[in-house]
Amino acid sequence: MIDVGNLIQGARIHGSLYRDPDVFERELNEIWYKVWVYVGHESEIPKPGDFVRRAIGRQPVIVVRGSDGKVNAFFNRCRHRGNMVCHAERGNTAVFTCPYHGWSYANTGALLQPTFEEGYDSNLQREDFALVPLPRVAAYRGLIFASVSPVGITLDEHLGGAKEFIDLFMDLSPVGTVSLRAGNQKVRYGGNWKFMPENSMEGDYHGPFIHKVAFDLHAKKTGFDVASLYENEVPDVIRSLPGGHMVEDYRGATIAPPKRPPSAARIAYAEAMKEAYGEEKAGRLLGTMAPLIYIFPNLMYLMTHIRVVQPVSVDETFVYYQPMMLDGVPNEINEERLRMHEFMFGAAGFISPDDIEIMERIQTAVNAGGNEWLFIGRGEHRDTIYPDGGSTGYTMDENHIRGFWKHYSGVMNAGA
Ligand code: FES
Ligand SMILES: [Fe+2]
Repeated sequence: MIDVGNLIQGARIHGSLYRDPDVFERELNEIWYKVWVYVGHESEIPKPGDFVRRAIGRQPVIVVRGSDGKVNAFFNRCRHRGNMVCHAERGNTAVFTCPYHGWSYANTGALLQPTFEEGYDSNLQREDFALVPLPRVAAYRGLIFASVSPVGITLDEHLGGAKEFIDLFMDLSPVGTVSLRAGNQKVRYGGNWKFMPENSMEGDYHGPFIHKVAFDLHAKKTGFDVASLYENEVPDVIRSLPGGHMVEDYRGATIAPPKRPPSAARIAYAEAMKEAYGEEKAGRLLGTMAPLIYIFPNLMYLMTHIRVVQPVSVDETFVYYQPMMLDGVPNEINEERLRMHEFMFGAAGFISPDDIEIMERIQTAVNAGGNEWLFIGRGEHRDTIYPDGGSTGYTMDENHIRGFWKHYSGVMNAGA
């Protein structure tokens, strides 16, 4: 068996971690089928019968609000002969009917009707043939997580210190809730899934290079010059949290006031925030950029959207971008967020397509082999390490990526 520990040596990462199919199989078993994995947001399934089709690793999953109002996650596998009972990506239904031989299931999972039942004897008891629920489902601030494993730490323990940062972006809404109702943009890339969290949480280091055009345009448009963040590197921005989570924490970096006077919608938004959280907290929430965050292994929040990573094989990955709309704000504020999303992360945006291109290029190079050890050592000499094992670093440091790999190594070797 592969000893992943040998492939991760402090700030040196072996290229085979991105190309070896055996590593990928082990990731499925040790990560995707053990830990808490994000499967959807409550706003996607607000009404009884609403469902979304998702996956955890290779496992097809249905996340559904049953007629009883309870959110469940089921393996999307018919108890007859294994067909996926649900093929629609989303919808509303009281009954899932398997298209193969017509068995039907309630949206609470119960087997309603096996077809041509007179051909079965007592070997088919309906209660033994319900859709199989994922053993654990839990939510935090509307974010629904599930685990294929019946045992392990609680979701609360898994999120740990990350909850503070989730709260910060959720509290951009004066009513404290958000909606993923603006569509789901899907991207496929020919590269390993781990490139996505590594890349998504370090815009400051690679930004000046691959995103120069976008940053310059953004500064011109909004008056907020991202360059100011990396020209004056500041400590404690890049965070590694226990559990493999990563954060870009901009609470210390004030947003430059906009060049133009605020719109009526902006003024109304600021008022609603003041009303909800008080002047001091509202000022903090609106006066800094909300943190960018990665929750191990598949969930991210970046500026405008929730991003979800879905591994397909060792060198193929799907990514889903869902713009995050704030509840309780003027429409114009959400429209601004959408326009910003399109500008940066849309299919023809100025940011994401370049990141994706880089990931495919890295895959091409690591697939070929040769000078195998990749280096993630920036800032290692000046990390601030906390008693819980987390760390902070300067704006362009790689301490968070080192933290990710340290956690990954622990999880991958746990079952060894
Ligand atoms: S496989 Fe579903 S009804 Fe036969
Ligand atoms: Fe980027």
